[in-house]
Parts: sequence; structure tokens; C-alpha cells
Amino acid sequence: MTTREPAYSPETVLVEAARPPRVPGASVNPPVELSSTFIGTTDMGDAPFGYGRFATPAWTPFEEALAELEHAEVPALVFGSGLAAIAAVLSLIPRGGTLIMPRHAYQGSLQSAEELAERAGFAVLSVDIADTEAVVAALDSAAESGRSTGTGASAGTGTTASAMLWIESPTNPMLEVADVPALIDAARQRGILVAVDNTFATPLLQTPLDLGADIVVHSVTKYLAGHSDVVLGAVVSRDPGLRETLLTERAMRGAIAGPFEVWLALRGMRTLSVRLERAQANAQAIAERLAARPDILEVRYPGLPGDPGHARAAAQMSGFGAIVAFTVASAETATAIAEAVRLWTPATSLGGVESLIERRRRHASEPTSVPEGLLRLSVGIEHVDDLWADLDSAISAAIAATGGGKGAR
Ligand SMILES: Cc1ncc(COP(=O)(O)O)c(C=O)c1O
Repeated sequence: MTTREPAYSPETVLVEAARPPRVPGASVNPPVELSSTFIGTTDMGDAPFGYGRFATPAWTPFEEALAELEHAEVPALVFGSGLAAIAAVLSLIPRGGTLIMPRHAYQGSLQSAEELAERAGFAVLSVDIADTEAVVAALDSAAESGRSTGTGASAGTGTTASAMLWIESPTNPMLEVADVPALIDAARQRGILVAVDNTFATPLLQTPLDLGADIVVHSVTKYLAGHSDVVLGAVVSRDPGLRETLLTERAMRGAIAGPFEVWLALRGMRTLSVRLERAQANAQAIAERLAARPDILEVRYPGLPGDPGHARAAAQMSGFGAIVAFTVASAETATAIAEAVRLWTPATSLGGVESLIERRRRHASEPTSVPEGLLRLSVGIEHVDDLWADLDSAISAAIAATGGGKGAR
């Protein structure tokens, strides 16, 4: 990393972090390092790199930049996908322990948690993450069962806490907003580890480690990389013990990232602040215009003053993000909208420069409490009027074709 004042704003950190040393004639960007092994004798001594499944200079610039953004003093750990990062974090929960999981969260996280819980022998308590009282009651119950089974120790001591609270906020795809500071506080008081999936918010909108979270995870695939061209994940923790355990998990399971994907992610991250700024402004305008249509059943976007998560998001985030969800009367109407758009792309995923639209219940694994007619929008950076004209006419055409206006069944 270059030597510089640590007090730069995140927008500057995005651009400046992890550049090579300023030597005349040197490259301004870190190189793509392609080597699976590194020179050494039988004794590794202090050599930073030995074999590429443990660590490689191809990962270092990205890992240092992300750590700086999330306010961690030790480098992040990049993984081969967001879900690989999530699986590594969930592996910290011991047999007999408890995972407190939002009932609405990325469906891959929910599925992964259920599968792992069965194999590894821990319990999953499903909660409405926006209902602070209900989450605190689940924390109490997890702490109580940790005491009675004698599993684990307190959070912050490394890897053996008996329970973990998983926070996604805003949630995917329902856009519920958790009281992140209150929940982290309550978990810490009970010695429960806290992991936050910060994919939707990005470190530009919230930095959970500052609030006492033990771990932050990212699907780097989304906003950080930002161009829908790589699948990657990352974990950040300030706790060297936790980091070491997760590093071992990565090396032993081998869920590692390719050098070029990591290089692309850092390249994409350089423009995160301008991409997010534009996408967020577009999302606000799209959400307002959707809310003004009488035939839309519900619009969820924390930036709408009437949204249930608005006050919380305004208090704890420095922006409302660029994901919007809206609900029409039926799956048929929602599908017809996704088929009628011409500028929006009907595809899964989110966080790229291009706007995507998806009916989430088309996935059999999506929780059944997500409405059949819910469409998730990942609002991109195109001109907002073009986006609105396309979506508006697709909605009108789909409703006319399916009879799916407000009140239709
Ligand atoms: C909030 C969230 N977390 C994690 C993931 C999983 O990341 P990946 O697809 O990179 O494995 C996703 C993917 O959609 C997501 O939306």
C-alpha cells in the first residue's frame, strides 16, 4: 500500500487504496499476478507467500482496499463467491449452537444456513429482522441454550461463541431495515457473534464493524465489482483470531478467487461512489414514480418517506441504496412486466451499472412469505427518464394484458 494520511474520505480511499509505491516509471495499477507458487526453501521463514491456495499477491490490493473501506486494520479475505464467504462464516457456529437468521434474506444464505445447520448440528431461529423485540427475544433464547449446553464463549474471543446473529439490512428482496446498532449491542451484551451481510448497503452507506459487528460479508459480485462480470465474495473482521480461522477455512476448503476476477473487482470498486450516487438517485425517482401509480399494490424503498424502514435507514445509513421492490396483483402480471421491458434486463443479480428486473418467486427456494407478484429492481446508472418510460409502459401493457390492476386477484 502507498503511505498516506489515513483520514481520507471513502470516495478517495476507493480511488487511492492499494496503489503500488510511487516509483518513477512504475505502473499506477497493481499488476495481475499469475503464480500458483512462490519461491522458498524448506523453511518458509517470513516469506509472505508460499502456495496460492493460502495467499497470493493477486488478492492483496483488493483485500487491503476493502479492509480500509470497512474500517478494519487487518486485510479482508476474498473468496470465490459471496456464498463461499457466507459458508465460511456459518462454519464458525459449533454443534449445539444457534444461528439467528432473518426470515427474509438472500435465499442462498437461507438455504446454505439450513443445509449446514442439519449437517453441523446447530439450530436456526428465523426472525423478522425489523422487529427488534423479536430479535432480542431470540438472542435471549440462544444465550440461554448456550448456557445450558455449555457450548461456546463470548464474542470477540475468536471462534467459539455458541450463537451467531446474522443481519441483512436492507433485506433481499423485501427491503426491511433492521435497527443495526441496537441489534449489534444486544448481541454483544449476550456474548453472541454478529455477522452483517453488507452487500446492499456497501461500506459507503454503513460500516457495521464500527458498531461492534464481528464480521462483515460481501457478495463482491454486486456493487463492489459493479459490472456484472465477476462472481466473488469477501469477509472482513477486525478480530485477528476470527480472521485466522476464516483464512484456514478458505485454504482448507479451497473456495478461492482467480487473480483476474480480483483485479477486475478492484478496478470496478474504483468507481463505486459515482456509480452508487447515480444509481441511488435513479432508485429514489423510480420508487416515487411507482408509488404514484394507483395500480401498484406496494412499493418498498427505504428512501420513500412513508416506507416502514425510512426513519431507521435515515438514522443509520448515509444513503438508501439502489434496490427497489414493488408488488403487483399476481405472478402472471409480474412475469408479464419482466417480459415487456426493453431497456431493463430481466435477470437475477444486482449491483451492476445496468438495470435489472426480476420476479423473485420464480425461484422455488425463495421464502413463500415473499409475494408472488413482487418484482425486485436493481436500479442502474442509465438516464432515469429512459428507465421510467420503459418500466411505466411495460407495467401498463402487462396490466392491460393480464387484468392485473389493483384489487385484481
Ligand atoms: C445480499 C446477498 N448476499 C450474498 C449473495 C451471494 O453472493 P454470490 O452470488 O456472489 O455468491 C447475494 C447474491 O445474490 C446477495 O444478494
